[in-house]
Amino acid sequence: MIEIAVLPDAVAVGERAADVFDDAVQSGARTLGLATGSSTDPLYAELVRRHGGRHNQYRMTRLFQLDEYIGLPVEHPERYAEVIRRSFAEPLGIPFSRVHAPDADDADPDRAGAAFELSIADAGGIDLQLLGVGANGHIAFNEPGTPFESRTRAVELADQTRRDNARFFGGDPDSVPRRAMSQGISTILRARRILLVAIGRAKADTVAAVARTPPTPLVPVSALHDHPAVTMLVDLEAASGIDPDNVLDTVRVSARPVAGGA
Ligand code: GLP
Repeated sequence: MIEIAVLPDAVAVGERAADVFDDAVQSGARTLGLATGSSTDPLYAELVRRHGGRHNQYRMTRLFQLDEYIGLPVEHPERYAEVIRRSFAEPLGIPFSRVHAPDADDADPDRAGAAFELSIADAGGIDLQLLGVGANGHIAFNEPGTPFESRTRAVELADQTRRDNARFFGGDPDSVPRRAMSQGISTILRARRILLVAIGRAKADTVAAVARTPPTPLVPVSALHDHPAVTMLVDLEAASGIDPDNVLDTVRVSARPVAGGA
């Protein structure tokens, strides 16, 4: 079942997502899967506003990245480990030793992917996985056509993804790395609970496709239909393409806040 909650704007998405995170952590969630991109910013800002600089339960959590660019130097500001450090881990007082990422510098990406899968398993699996979604329907860097059985591995970025992410690299798509390490779709589906945030008109077609399309590798985010506990928080613009007369039985679209908890 996918619950799509439509909220007025990006700030409301961030606040509601922060409620879901807080409820989960208060209920004992200790392993959090974190996404990057601009849609997750309102959530991270809200959590830092609520808990930053104070003793908080997030200090007990372990963080697992969804993905990491290959080829960026460790100190590059767009390296996702660096994004997670400055926007989440550091302000919430989570030691960097508790942040886990697939090793994008390993000359053997298969080994790095397997090691990352093992680190998730060793931690007991992921309690709450946060996702954004690409304008082409990707989750993490699983681009259209990715098999649903995929695990953490090296992937090629789609041209559209490099164009979409160029804004983080001075506007030049050629500056965006061509490859990344990415959790696979089956890795993501093993999380106990999934929270997806989508903001803005650029996501409207993708959100509408999730509402009406049974699982197909052509729309990677549609794999979430195979998971029992998915909440999507979307703003009005991202929801604007949903046709209420064309929504799958396994999708519930609600304008009301949804229940939190792990
Ligand atoms: C990147 C990340 C994805 C994220 C996507 C959406 O490509 N690898 O995990 O979902 O960006 O980003 P934004 O929220 O900036 O649109």
